[in-house]
Amino acid sequence: MSTAQSTYSKGLEGVIAAQTEMSFINGSEGILEYVGIAIGDLASQSSFEETVFLLWNKRLPTAEELGAFTTDLRANYGLCDSLKARITACPADAEPMHVIRTMISSMAMDDSSPNENSVEAAREKSLQILATAPAIVAAFDRHRRGLEIIDPDPSLNFAGNFLYMLNGEKPTPAMIRAFDICMITHADHGLNNSTFAARVVISTLSDVYSAITAAVGSLRGPLHGGANEGVMKMLNQIPDVEGAEEHVMNMIKNKERIMGFGHRVYKSKDPRASELMTLAKQLAEDTGNMDLYNKSHAIELVMEREYASKGIYPNVDFYSATTYHCIGLKLDLFTPMFVLARIAGWAGHVIEQLGDNRLFRPTTDYVGPHDVAYVPIEKR
Ligand code: SDX
Repeated sequence: MSTAQSTYSKGLEGVIAAQTEMSFINGSEGILEYVGIAIGDLASQSSFEETVFLLWNKRLPTAEELGAFTTDLRANYGLCDSLKARITACPADAEPMHVIRTMISSMAMDDSSPNENSVEAAREKSLQILATAPAIVAAFDRHRRGLEIIDPDPSLNFAGNFLYMLNGEKPTPAMIRAFDICMITHADHGLNNSTFAARVVISTLSDVYSAITAAVGSLRGPLHGGANEGVMKMLNQIPDVEGAEEHVMNMIKNKERIMGFGHRVYKSKDPRASELMTLAKQLAEDTGNMDLYNKSHAIELVMEREYASKGIYPNVDFYSATTYHCIGLKLDLFTPMFVLARIAGWAGHVIEQLGDNRLFRPTTDYVGPHDVAYVPIEKR
């Protein structure tokens, strides 16, 4: 491989650092496909379980294959006793993102061969993490509320089982479908920061738990998955629809980042934002939260007038905030929802990296001094 010096791209902007068969993104036209299938088609016709199979196997499953995959996933719902004990030992005021990151990392201690790195082993560990993560989030939330942990209901799909374990009651079909669409639209997205983190870690042939843990740590950042919480905080600061324009214009004047807008790749509206806008509006109507949706839409119109010329449009986080609120999720559970879905993408990239690995080791452009004499401390 050539060691010729390449040009410096801050933040690796525009640098191709991996090949993938999972997500295709055309940022100028606002296109997202999973293995060639448009995100809108998957959001309207697929399920999260089918989407995971698609991402991990690079094709849609037959009915029999989907049944087997779903059965395998549901067989792994729930928490082993040691994990349950670790969750209930967490301080009730711990941040859920710190809890999910820590608990996924700790799952390595429940695995008899945590460091096994074959593609098949990575698939098995990925399925286990995917199936367990909802139970971790639900169990911690109930623990911090002083409530009993609810065991999973394997008669429910991924979306329904999470909402059931969280709330202790069977969710409505509409809420299950809404959450399923959220999981589909958040499942994978090329080499975003957290997915890159997972690939970098597994490229040293470290373990799957370490790779997914690194990804969770990255996703928490407000410039990445943490933005959905920032959107909700912004919406809560705006008293009513009429106040939206003034609030946003003040933020722009103060050169503040408007959470839920802008994207390193999309220079048009994120197609996931369009899907989630439709879902948010329907849920807001059904749950009496039209004020939230109307404020969001008013913000979008102001941002379109002020920033569309700069290629700044709503991203996946903007309408997911209203959607998660209408589903009844607490603010500090918004980003953990992103984790539940993106484990699918992170694991898919871990499997891809293991299938064709080369250690990530970029270089730097050294801009410091040379030939500097060492000065003994007594002479400094
Ligand atoms: C996700 O990569 C992925 O695919 C991520 C993701 C995924 O599915 O994994 O899509 C999920 O992380 C979506 C992004 C969520 N983050 C936010 O909503 C936070 C707010 N957005 C920004 O901070 C920003 O848009 C980024 C971080 C998302 C992208 O920033 P870039 O590509 O590094 O662009 P930049 O920061 O260099 O900004 C370019 C210009 C700057 O203005 P100038 O300094 O050139 O005058 O655009 C401005 C920025 O100030 N700008 C914004 C803005 N986003 C960019 N100004 C106000 N509000 C914003 N949101």
